[in-house]
Amino acid sequence: MKWRLQTAVVLGWTICILFGCTAPERPKGDAGPATLVFKHGKIAGPPEAFRALLDRFEAGHPGLLVRDESLPSSTDQQHQFYVISLEGRSPDFDVLAMDVIWVQEFARAGWIRDLSHLLPPEDRAAFFPGPVEAVTFKDRAYAVPWYIDAGLLYYRKDLLDKYGFGPPKTWEELVGESQTILEGERDPQLKGFIWQGKQYEGLICNVLEYIRSNGGEVLDRDGKVVLSSPPARKALGFMRDLITRYGVSPPMVTTADEEATRRIFGEGRAVFLRNWPYAWNLFEQPGSKIRGKVGVSPLPGFPGHPSAATLGGWQLGVNRYSRHPKEAEALIRFLTSAEAQRWMAIEIGYKPTRTALYRDRKLMAAQPFMTGLYGIFQTARPRPVTPYYLMLSQVMQPEFSAAMVGLKSPEAALEDAQLQMNHILFGRPGT
Ligand code: GLC
Repeated sequence: MKWRLQTAVVLGWTICILFGCTAPERPKGDAGPATLVFKHGKIAGPPEAFRALLDRFEAGHPGLLVRDESLPSSTDQQHQFYVISLEGRSPDFDVLAMDVIWVQEFARAGWIRDLSHLLPPEDRAAFFPGPVEAVTFKDRAYAVPWYIDAGLLYYRKDLLDKYGFGPPKTWEELVGESQTILEGERDPQLKGFIWQGKQYEGLICNVLEYIRSNGGEVLDRDGKVVLSSPPARKALGFMRDLITRYGVSPPMVTTADEEATRRIFGEGRAVFLRNWPYAWNLFEQPGSKIRGKVGVSPLPGFPGHPSAATLGGWQLGVNRYSRHPKEAEALIRFLTSAEAQRWMAIEIGYKPTRTALYRDRKLMAAQPFMTGLYGIFQTARPRPVTPYYLMLSQVMQPEFSAAMVGLKSPEAALEDAQLQMNHILFGRPGT
């Protein structure tokens, strides 16, 4: 008992130090309104915009208040918060936004409630298949898909037009177009192609887009680790070459995440950017330096292979230790409804997981580029869907990063990753 208390205190402090603290929820008497705590990553754009949506929920649910609490935008840091909190059985939040890669792990650990009644089999077809697969564990649904992400290529339409280029279909074309534009513009501030190469989850998303658009994979259909392969070696080597050999990507990409690259492109200092859909709304804000000058297309592939955007996105679930599970479900129903998803797409730029919205006239008029996203979301490639994904990611991250900065050859990085992944999945080196 004493040990438990000490552990709880230590966990509490660790969470406070890592993520900052808010006053803990006090149990409410029957008279007062119940307060639901909703944890999510930092929302793009001004925070008031999102608050307006929660106010709307409160207006429709007298007696319920929602306190939304932001975590850092990095998925890795958010994951760390949840593992510590949920392992410590924290009831301090009710609804949580989960990355597409966590639901299996959290469901298996028993940290989130079974929400199959919110997403019965007959309703699943209303959503893109990738997120539905992500929230389904042993035939039960543990979360409801909230918004969807896939890697996209943003480009400066004005610059490509000036040089008579269209959006590149292959990675090699992207290099050629970047080099021609950089030579022609003679602007030392202008970079060719920026992407997320820092050692974190975003790096995995980027690397997989090259490996898979060259015919490689992480696991095959039988779950065997097939990461170390000639197509993957070429893909990883090509990413390093973008920086060193072709000189189209600045070395800073090896320490950059989504927001760092979004800002550089937003300042008009890059021709191409790989990022998620949220960036579009920010580029089109009044006062943006590149407003009206941005195009979006599927990511390129290697010759003979289709583009392979990584599937991302966020799902809403209920903390197993929540004191307000029914109310938490009401908030999830509201936030994942077609109305709320339409609102989020327009106001914040988070893209709906409900496919019907891609035929919604009002939405298409407000966001014409969304029609093109439908096909990309349908075919976006999930990271391995397994409760052990985070362990695989933690093995791949340092190996891919070592290859990006030139500390390891692509071959050694892939082999070392494969060896460790086999160990995690099968307890042996494997083949
Ligand atoms: C985005 C994606 C998420 C991914 C993360 C990587 O938030 O939605 O799935 O893991 O970026 O940085």
